[in-house]
Amino acid sequence: MIDQYGRELTYLRISVIDRCNLKCLYCMPSHGAGFEAWDNLLTYDEIVTLVTCFAELGIRKVRFTGGEPLVRKDIAQLISKIRRIPEISELALSTNGVFLMRDARELKTAGLDRINVSLDTLNRNRFQEIAKQDKLYEVLDGIDCALNVGLKPVKLNTVLMRGINQNEILDLVRFAIEKSIEIRFIELMPTNGLVQLDPAERFLSTEKAQAEIEKEYNLVPVDSYFSSPAQVFLVEGTKTRVGFISPISNFFCARCNRLRLKATGMLKTCLHGKEDLDLKELLRLGVSKEEIKRRIEGVVWSRPEQHFLNETKMVHQDFQMSHVGG
Ligand code: GTP
Ligand code: 5AD
Ligand code: SF4
Repeated sequence: MIDQYGRELTYLRISVIDRCNLKCLYCMPSHGAGFEAWDNLLTYDEIVTLVTCFAELGIRKVRFTGGEPLVRKDIAQLISKIRRIPEISELALSTNGVFLMRDARELKTAGLDRINVSLDTLNRNRFQEIAKQDKLYEVLDGIDCALNVGLKPVKLNTVLMRGINQNEILDLVRFAIEKSIEIRFIELMPTNGLVQLDPAERFLSTEKAQAEIEKEYNLVPVDSYFSSPAQVFLVEGTKTRVGFISPISNFFCARCNRLRLKATGMLKTCLHGKEDLDLKELLRLGVSKEEIKRRIEGVVWSRPEQHFLNETKMVHQDFQMSHVGG
């Protein structure tokens, strides 16, 4: 499957649920995001049918996201079904880590290859301020469990927030070095404005984070995979890589290989674009797989060239991060 700009689509991010057990400052409104009724979510069987279609169209990598994917019951069953689709060679999951102690082994047994865990702070009180729950130690233990059961690689995701976790950048890098794992620093992205912080006030560029790290460490550029949103460096003298994801300052749309399926069955061909196709409706109307594939190819062909976040003054209508999963 390719789009009108020649980009090949090989990576599908599936949000399995819009609910989350946390309420992070940059993601959720303080009053909660308002959750979809269960009937409006794709069932696991529907997800499997759709992934079969996507696999036949060239998707090779699937990542499960949320909300928080581990909030949905029996996610391991879904993973083991998707594992059986021969074209899918890589299965990953992005999580806030709170339930990893409980779930890591089952996820690995079900066939999950690897995991990315959000970690914005190492300070217990600050974790509570950011996520509204006192769960830092669960997340840290969860990271160890993921490593122990052999989910590989484990990567950390840190959203940069000026004046909130800015002074922890080096501590987080040291933590990643201690664990010999990769850490990525992510620029805060504007969503629909209903979050608990002002993205313009809290924005901190990856360039500043990199300069901070380079006060103490030598960063050696390394190649990452072509479509990776991250620019990746090896921390010299260690096994740890540091990545910088810069959707605002240095965007990577020209290499973007990913599609997003919301828990409601809406397909998005760009994280910051509109909802392009209602796949749940097609499935529930009994439309054939061949027709569904044709419809997917149609919207993929006309996907936008890039996002326009820099022109929209840091507000992005119609977009709730917890509904799309990043
Ligand atoms: P890898 O497969 O390990 O490279 O992970 P990933 O970067 O694809 O996935 P992850 O879920 O860990 O995402 C990390 C951060 O990058 C999140 O904040 C995402 O919102 C952001 N991100 C991932 N893909 C895109 C994208 O296509 N556009 C934008 N703007 N941000 C993205
Ligand atoms: N800007 C940047 N990253 C975000 N994430 C959630 N909301 C935002 C935002 N507004 C990140 C999470 C997680 C990933 C899947 O998306 O921290 O690491
Ligand atoms: Fe939940 Fe992730 Fe959003 Fe935090 S960023 S509230 S963990 S979905």
